[in-house]
Amino acid sequence: MPVTRPIDLHRRLPGYAPTSLVRLEGAIEGIAAPIVVKLETSRYGLPSFKVLGASWAVGCRIAGWLGPHAPDDRSYDAIRPALDAHGTRPTLVAATDGNHGRAVAWSARQLGCAAEVFVPAGTAQSRRQAIVAEGAALTVVEGDYDETVAAAAARATGDRLLVQDTALEGGETGVEDVVAGYATVFDELAEQLSGGSTGPCILVVPVGVGSLALAAARFIRERRAGDHLVTVEPTEAASLQRSLVEGRLVAIPGPHVSCMVGLRCGSISAGAWPELRAATDLAMAIEDADADEAMRWLAQRGVVVGECGAATLAAARRAVPEGLLQPLLANGDATLVLIATEAPTDPERWRAVVGRDP
Ligand SMILES: Cc1ncc(COP(=O)(O)O)c(C=O)c1O
Repeated sequence: MPVTRPIDLHRRLPGYAPTSLVRLEGAIEGIAAPIVVKLETSRYGLPSFKVLGASWAVGCRIAGWLGPHAPDDRSYDAIRPALDAHGTRPTLVAATDGNHGRAVAWSARQLGCAAEVFVPAGTAQSRRQAIVAEGAALTVVEGDYDETVAAAAARATGDRLLVQDTALEGGETGVEDVVAGYATVFDELAEQLSGGSTGPCILVVPVGVGSLALAAARFIRERRAGDHLVTVEPTEAASLQRSLVEGRLVAIPGPHVSCMVGLRCGSISAGAWPELRAATDLAMAIEDADADEAMRWLAQRGVVVGECGAATLAAARRAVPEGLLQPLLANGDATLVLIATEAPTDPERWRAVVGRDP
């Protein structure tokens, strides 16, 4: 069967396994609803969900580059020989604060392509090393995330193909394919929920540029009435929350100082904004201390996640005492679904917060 959907590609990549959905007991006082966390802490040995978007988008970008020589089949087993027959290979280019660039480099390597990855100067050494370990050429940009995205876009000309997880003015970035690739998180979730809860789900999703939340919004739209979307951002970079308040897309200028590195984006992707505006039921902003506290609580129960991964539990814990989550849970058989998007990617910091090795 030719691959035409992201989940079919993902199932065929070596090392595929659905991520687990774990029940959390006693995680939040004051609500009776069951709480589950989808643990996006390992995908093909990488520490986050990001490779789901990158792998699908890299395949689509290369197919576009191959033009009439591209196979209809989007599996890497079909794209690889098409590249061999073509004789030359493109280079994949991405900007990142860690996870996306590493995932693009991993995907490029699966297809025998080179990768160039741009990171902001503040990126932790461990994250830089992980990108280089995937075989990518690393460029450090003296600026914040948005400036890094601009630098990568300027580099991507000719046979250098940009694969970005955010939309840019007037340029092809592959972001729609990245969003499409993230659907695998929710396709798996739908299967896992159908084995247990039949009620609506309240999805809590962290937001950087909003591409993952956009995939969540589309999942909810297609599923059922009664599902709700809750978004989470660091206070310093809460551009979705601010945009919803002002009723227009607003960027928050950097620098954005937060331990939730993957969420430190000053602007929501322009392509995501209209749908997120319509779909977001509650937009939370949290402090670093909230994420650290949730990370510690989870670690004590054997659930090892990084700062972005803990952000959703942290936000739900903040929302309940303020009475913000309860109206969404009013339907008695609703399940609260937290997406934990990463494993610890800065082990030094994790050790300092939790008090032991990850
Ligand atoms: C670990 C982690 N969680 C969540 C996100 C947020 O995803 P998005 O930028 O699509 O909103 C990112 C983005 O890089 C991330 O790395």
